[in-house]
Amino acid sequence: RETTLSPGDLVQPLFVHEGGDEPIASMPGCRRWSLEGLVKEAGECHALGIPAVVLFPKIEDALKTSQAEECHNEGGLIPRAIRALKKAHPSLVVITDVALDPYNADGHDGLVRDGKILNDETVEVLCRQAVCQAAAGADIVAPSDMMDGRVGALRQALDAAGHEQVSILSYTAKYASAYYGPFRGALDSSPKSGDKKTYQMDPANAREAVRELTLDEDEGADMVMVKPAGPYLDVISLLRENTTLPVAAYQVSGEYLMIKSAAEAGWINEAQVVRESLVGIKRAGADFVLTYFAKEVAATLRAE
Ligand code: PBG
Repeated sequence: RETTLSPGDLVQPLFVHEGGDEPIASMPGCRRWSLEGLVKEAGECHALGIPAVVLFPKIEDALKTSQAEECHNEGGLIPRAIRALKKAHPSLVVITDVALDPYNADGHDGLVRDGKILNDETVEVLCRQAVCQAAAGADIVAPSDMMDGRVGALRQALDAAGHEQVSILSYTAKYASAYYGPFRGALDSSPKSGDKKTYQMDPANAREAVRELTLDEDEGADMVMVKPAGPYLDVISLLRENTTLPVAAYQVSGEYLMIKSAAEAGWINEAQVVRESLVGIKRAGADFVLTYFAKEVAATLRAE
């Protein structure tokens, strides 16, 4: 057997909000956690051998603005979540999302003026966001925004603020994908107008992923990621062949939901299909996988 799967290969994405634990209508089987619920859930994942979680906040509408200031509020939801997690589980790796969409009244990952994304002005805000997350104790920051030049700017900003030890997991090849639909429901973060095609990649492009890889390497990325995973296995292989950095893949909400809903209907065997999908992603060249199935898979791997 050439490829193996273990809990240590998995990262569990977790949603957090102000309020009690509640199911997410657009992602059956996932929850929006309270801070308390988040700490408990992350602890259970960690106990199963999952080394890391990645956090996504659902921000109250009243805090969303056109400048997305809440993303660098040190008393905000994510900094509080990071502190609570690191206090309860010091060995758990906490990864944070760097992008403006949960905080932006426009629902875009970047600042918008006259219907256009402002690349460089966005990068400045992203730097403040990442430094705020690092100050709260984040181990790895993961820019999912797809602005140009953000990895280099984040590295400089983190170093200047004394966070040399914080790593950057770059969403290197993040495609403009319809598979993100259920996630946007979970965060209530759909763009109010337009789409994300001016900053996320064209699904028809593979060579462009290598160009993004070269830029991210030059700018100081510690790890590179392909997203979505299943429909982009060729891109995972391509990055694997072209870098010595760790390669991650994100099995996104739509991939999760396709398996989940077919299994709910009794049409496929969930445990087996999940396992096969993840082995396939690893076989293509991913060193680790962000997946909403992480806890479920880790539990079954443990039981074997
Ligand atoms: C936005 C972001 C998205 C996801 C992670 N970060 C959605 C988007 O780009 O619109 C999608 C994750 C998923 O679908 O599971 N910064």
